[in-house]
Amino acid sequence: MFNCIELACFTVGLSCILGKLPLIIIITIIVVALRILKLLINPFIKTKATTKRYGEKSYAVITGGANGIGEAMARELANRNFNLVLIDLDQKRLVEVSKSIQEKNKVAVLTIVYDFGKETTPTSFEKLTQKFSDLDVSILINNVGVCNPANLFAEIETKRACLELLVNCYPVVMLSKFMIERLRQRYQQNKKRSLIMNVASTCGIMYQPYCANYCGTKVFTKRFSQSLYYELNDGISGIDVVTLAPSSVSTNLSKLQEGFAVISPQMCAIGALNNITAFEQNGGWQHEILAFFIRLWLVDFLPRQIAGSITLKLGQILRIVQQKAK
Ligand SMILES: NC(=O)c1ccc[n+]([C@@H]2O[C@H](COP(=O)([O-])OP(=O)(O)OC[C@H]3O[C@@H](n4cnc5c(N)ncnc54)[C@H](OP(=O)(O)O)[C@@H]3O)[C@@H](O)[C@H]2O)c1
Repeated sequence: MFNCIELACFTVGLSCILGKLPLIIIITIIVVALRILKLLINPFIKTKATTKRYGEKSYAVITGGANGIGEAMARELANRNFNLVLIDLDQKRLVEVSKSIQEKNKVAVLTIVYDFGKETTPTSFEKLTQKFSDLDVSILINNVGVCNPANLFAEIETKRACLELLVNCYPVVMLSKFMIERLRQRYQQNKKRSLIMNVASTCGIMYQPYCANYCGTKVFTKRFSQSLYYELNDGISGIDVVTLAPSSVSTNLSKLQEGFAVISPQMCAIGALNNITAFEQNGGWQHEILAFFIRLWLVDFLPRQIAGSITLKLGQILRIVQQKAK
């Protein structure tokens, strides 16, 4: 709704660009006010992921579910009585997480060791989904991701650049491919809704020198996910598709300490799972505000040259900080 109003305001503004500067200022204020209003009313129009919506005793499949955001999603979904399928590379950690969840919650947890960087053929993905073909899966969280240390793209090892593409993009596409028909049938036969959550990043809002490859993978995820949102919002599939685009979260991947702008994985998971019918969301109110300002200043208002040199500087600082932390 707001995007249409914003577009209309900008169109009127542009048509008055010559000679009517005050009108443009008024329109700009209206646009900013509408965005702030959207930010403020958001908390009151959110839908939560519950077994009431997606089916009692149904399962949530989470890739990269042994650590970080994936693990936090698993724990939060178990608190909401969902059974779990956790897929990850890290066998030891999978066992630990599964055990600790089952000690706390009366849910079933199936763990699958799978290397998304190596098992990349359609057949291997089909075999992976067959491992839980007898379970009533209602939620797919395409979370797994890797991020190379900040560096100039030309200096990144080719195999590391490839790994980032394989792990960050391929599972999102392949698991959606093999699961959508199943989820659709679930709705058509039993009127049970499902959810696909795709984890992108705030990085996908704009270009990010020194993280070019990672940034590209996240834009891929974001646009893929947003396109699916419209394709599956057809009244016959019963599948909610949400794009989660967090900013910094304190995990092994970011190696950042928790603070105001760096949220905990728990906070990210709760924020994300409490807002599952959004077109795109950021997983926590701090990140909603951050994304709001990134869009407003860096994307919309600042000239590209200035915004570009800011992001370039940020990338250089990130590289220095990461090198010092080694
Ligand atoms: N943390 C952030 O600041 C942040 C911000 C925005 C978006 N995100 C996105 O959020 C998602 C989760 O990130 P996170 O921070 O939670 O990362 P994380 O703490 O590193 O957790 C990712 C999990 O995925 C596993 N994994 C990595 N490579 C794999 C592979 N080839 N096959 C199977 N499993 C693999 C990891 O196992 P190992 O531990 O054994 O590697 C780990 O258990 C990613 O898509 C990331 O891009 C993160």
